[in-house]
Amino acid sequence: MRPLRTITEIPLKAKRVFVRVDFNVPLKQEGEAWVVTDTTRLVGALPTIRYIIEQGGRCILASHLGRPKGKSIKKYSLEPVAAKLSELLGKDVILTDDCIGDGPRGLSHQLRNGDVMLLENLRFRPEEEENSVEFANQLLELCDIYISDAFGALHRAHTSTFMAPKLAAVKGVGFLVQKELEALLPLRENPHRPFVLIMGGSKISDKIGVLEHFLPKVDRVIIGGAMAYAFLKARGTEIGNSLCDDRQVQLASKLIKGALVRNVELLIPVDHLVASKIDDTKSASVTPGAAIPDGKMGVDIGPNTLALYEKGLEGAETIFWNGPMGVFEVPAFAQGTFELAKKIAATTAKKLAGGGDSVAAIVQAGVESSFDFISTGGGATLEFLEGKELPGLKALE
Ligand code: 3PG
Repeated sequence: MRPLRTITEIPLKAKRVFVRVDFNVPLKQEGEAWVVTDTTRLVGALPTIRYIIEQGGRCILASHLGRPKGKSIKKYSLEPVAAKLSELLGKDVILTDDCIGDGPRGLSHQLRNGDVMLLENLRFRPEEEENSVEFANQLLELCDIYISDAFGALHRAHTSTFMAPKLAAVKGVGFLVQKELEALLPLRENPHRPFVLIMGGSKISDKIGVLEHFLPKVDRVIIGGAMAYAFLKARGTEIGNSLCDDRQVQLASKLIKGALVRNVELLIPVDHLVASKIDDTKSASVTPGAAIPDGKMGVDIGPNTLALYEKGLEGAETIFWNGPMGVFEVPAFAQGTFELAKKIAATTAKKLAGGGDSVAAIVQAGVESSFDFISTGGGATLEFLEGKELPGLKALE
């Protein structure tokens, strides 16, 4: 990767600075209004926004939210984000009605040094996902400088993340992208060993690239979440009604062989919390062993598995965690995930995490401050770690 120009190398005073941020944050409805439930991505962008304000630049923020598929839909409006951001910054944030056109263009010229404006959801326009030259030029009309700080969206070759920076005359990266790359690049290339990789979540197919990338560099892999059932099935263990398809089992077999060849220790669950259905907390029980009986499905790791995984963390110099151990959104099935978060937090290893769900679990377990780095990316973090070229970075070269 070629070195990227950073925001500090670009004079910002009195300039209109377009910052692509990733404000795709979780929201919940409270009465008529929607409110932001996790501010991690907003907080992550604050250093860049504050720097532009301090330098006397005029900050124009742009983001997507959800997948409104080119239509203007109220529940995907950035209004609650503008309100939360204004609270975090302690200053007004002007929200536009649209992301391009006369309105935003006019406003962009009225901004004073240090003002902050947020464009309405880029994905209200179908051209955002079409990587359109015309749409990119309409976005660039709003600014003098393009700054990329949307780490979580760098894997998308969309107009605002790819075509706009490609066409921008003056461009660079913000502090969040720099921080993410500084933390994730050494992990990807040369993790300090012993290195323990913990992967959870539902599908191996989403994680196979990362697992395969790390096989030559990892000492122990710990598997949890629904993807663990594919490993059990590949080994011939009964998994009852647990979520699992044949493709996942094939991938699990491949990884089991890969780990064996590389002499990597692979830990999979030895017991489980099971239930009749994913929302039937009353039927929950712990299995005596790794097998899951007919009519039951795995919803969390069991106590013996947790003890095994805690032992698996011993001596680690680096731990990277992605994906929950069970259906942690249901409080009765969250214990394995939360307890593991606490066990990781208690180690002396360098602790990194990434991927939306594991971050939410770490925050809910209250151990966020014990982690050395928590990535704001989900898919982007995984694609970066598996060594894929991210379009949003390519466009800045
Ligand atoms: C994310 O949350 O991973 C990013 O904001 C990208 O969102 P997307 O998967 O809808 O493109």
